[in-house]
Amino acid sequence: MTAINSVMDFSKDGDVGVLTLNSPPVNALSANVRDGLYEGFKAAIADPAVKAIVLICEGRTFIAGADISEFGGASKGASLFDVQNMMEESPKPVVAAIHGTALGGGLEVALCAHYRVAVPSARCGLPEVNLGLLPGAGGTQRLPRITGVEKALEMVTSGSHVPAKECLAMGLVDEIVPEGELKAGAIAFARKVVADRKPLVKVRDNDTKLQAAKGHPEIFANFRKANARKFRGFKAPEANIQCIEAAVNQPFEEGLKTERRLFMDVMMGPQSAAQRYYFFAERLANKIPDVPDTTATIPIKKVGIIGAGTMGGGIAMNFANAGIPVTIVEVKQDALDRGLKVVRGNYERSAKGGRFPMSEVDRRMGLITGSLDMNALADVDLVIEAVFERMDIKKDIFTRLDSICKPGAILATNTSGLNIDEIASVTKRPEAVIGLHFFSPANVMKLLEIVRADHTSKEVINTSMKLAKTIGKIAVLVGVCPGFVGNRMLGQRGREAQKMVLEGAMPWDVDRVLYDFGFPMGPFAMSDLAGLDIGWVKERSKGETIRDVLCEADRRGQKTGAGYYDYDPETRAAKPSPVTEKIIKDFVTKSGKNPRTIGDEEILERCIYPMINEGAKLLDEKKAIRPSDIDVVWVNGYGWPVYRGGPMHYADQVGLDKVLAKMKEFEAKMGDAFKPAPLLEKLAGEGKKFADLR
Ligand code: 3HC
Repeated sequence: MTAINSVMDFSKDGDVGVLTLNSPPVNALSANVRDGLYEGFKAAIADPAVKAIVLICEGRTFIAGADISEFGGASKGASLFDVQNMMEESPKPVVAAIHGTALGGGLEVALCAHYRVAVPSARCGLPEVNLGLLPGAGGTQRLPRITGVEKALEMVTSGSHVPAKECLAMGLVDEIVPEGELKAGAIAFARKVVADRKPLVKVRDNDTKLQAAKGHPEIFANFRKANARKFRGFKAPEANIQCIEAAVNQPFEEGLKTERRLFMDVMMGPQSAAQRYYFFAERLANKIPDVPDTTATIPIKKVGIIGAGTMGGGIAMNFANAGIPVTIVEVKQDALDRGLKVVRGNYERSAKGGRFPMSEVDRRMGLITGSLDMNALADVDLVIEAVFERMDIKKDIFTRLDSICKPGAILATNTSGLNIDEIASVTKRPEAVIGLHFFSPANVMKLLEIVRADHTSKEVINTSMKLAKTIGKIAVLVGVCPGFVGNRMLGQRGREAQKMVLEGAMPWDVDRVLYDFGFPMGPFAMSDLAGLDIGWVKERSKGETIRDVLCEADRRGQKTGAGYYDYDPETRAAKPSPVTEKIIKDFVTKSGKNPRTIGDEEILERCIYPMINEGAKLLDEKKAIRPSDIDVVWVNGYGWPVYRGGPMHYADQVGLDKVLAKMKEFEAKMGDAFKPAPLLEKLAGEGKKFADLR
């Protein structure tokens, strides 16, 4: 065995040279790795005893792509193109041996091998689009030459990780070898290539699969049209499509040039910067400074849920999906039956949509048990209370849970804003009390705000963070305060949106600006969806707000066919409503205000800047660990467009001095609601960004 450099070894198995790359955690293509590959292939090609070369990786995965943390820095070491040329032009067959994931630049390296073998659990993909990028090392030109245009379009615009079996079927992988026997399998494969005198296949040279798309621009037009909604606002999908078009319409070398040009375009743009930032933000959110990863965890084998409403049922599904048995406790049989029926209906819809076979519905339902007796929770490891937001009810439930549940069981509340310390105070185990704030619909939404109360133990925090991963959630640890991180910031946006309607904007003006910014919908469309009558009491309603007036007119949102908007009875499409407009105008006139025209810029700034300001306060109060955690909350829980990074990243992009100046201007005109947070003043004064707070 010879060490080529600190990450690459060269050894021989008879006449097969084996290059072994070992650069944890994911063998990303850093300068050192590129150097190792370049020098390694050079040495193997030069060695007269070597007849074929296998490239294999140590650790959990094959090369998972370019080293994202290097982007934007000065380029050092061998270029990826040098490495790829060396491999592709090698006079000896090169076999890439794939386990884990061959992603992005990693797959692009493998595509320059003459052959690829993989274990069954391996996956291949070009996920650059999720970083606002496109495969910049020939991936867009080589992939369609193997898979054909349709499949390539799908892969580069979705970033999906394709399982080995499918890769084999489409020719991306040449052979599957048994799990755990990758090295021996790849060496045997290489030997056979030599013995059978198989050709040195260069993917670049074979255009056969592209022919079907030549002269058919409609393939691309149709693809764009079919995905327009999914791609809305994003720049990278279109750049990826253009690269595949280039693969069809240009010779390979020209196609590479187009790919390079478009790669540099997206790479230098703000969207990719935001999406790369976000990639690391999501991973950083798992790191809790005073709760190391090695902190003990409590095994969660059985879960209890109080409440079979929309939230309780949705939460239960997460656990059943992960194979963890759940008991749901309700007070009344009909409420329990209704709740379980909704869960079954959700599963059946998924099965009909092809997500899993119908047999899965019964299997998952079999993991969910209903009960009317809280004593059924005596042996669960975790209880999540999901009843409505009243402190007295929650306190009563926690008192009873404390006496029923076994010692060591975690008692969690799904409250979206009540004081968890107060809830914990009624138990004799405040260290076991934590907030697990799921977002609706709880079986779909990715975000989980994990709320740490004063006495919550580190074990309970670490268990909750790990459990979130098990059930496929993205967790962010936050502190106790009204609304926690997400809803507290949302409150700022909601307040300004309402105020602007009283000043002269129409709900659809506000919604349009936020939709164009990249949100899936604005606050008024959102209210219509949720129902305007949440928390509204008919008997007490005195027309004091526009919402009161709308509800009194039975315009309670989508469910009544009208709310802020009118809804087409057939298509359910929303239309600005002349009725709502009149209601608003009358209301404003009655309150003696003079409506004015509010520009789009003001709408956006008044919705977004107070949120950023509230984020700064949350950081000052240590309710969020770091600015990027706030961004993870907003991207996953509230539809903030990931290509804008999150509110705190967006503020950094705009410039904190500009945000501060605007807040001061608004404060002078409209009062204390816009008072700048001390942290915003401080950072702006020092010429810094939120990102400098690490
Ligand atoms: N560059 C730098 N660091 C990376 C990385 C990359 N490409 N991929 C992963 N990492 C780091 C993570 O930040 C994390 O670091 P941490 O432990 O300090 O937090 C560590 O590796 C482990 O990553 P995960 O926590 O994500 O581990 P998982 O096992 O859950 O997932 C993975 C592994 C599927 C490989 C996932 O990390 C992933 O999807 N990585 C990104 C893959 C990717 O996007 N590749 C394309 C890069 S762009 C490119 O190649 C351009 C080219 O076309 C020129």
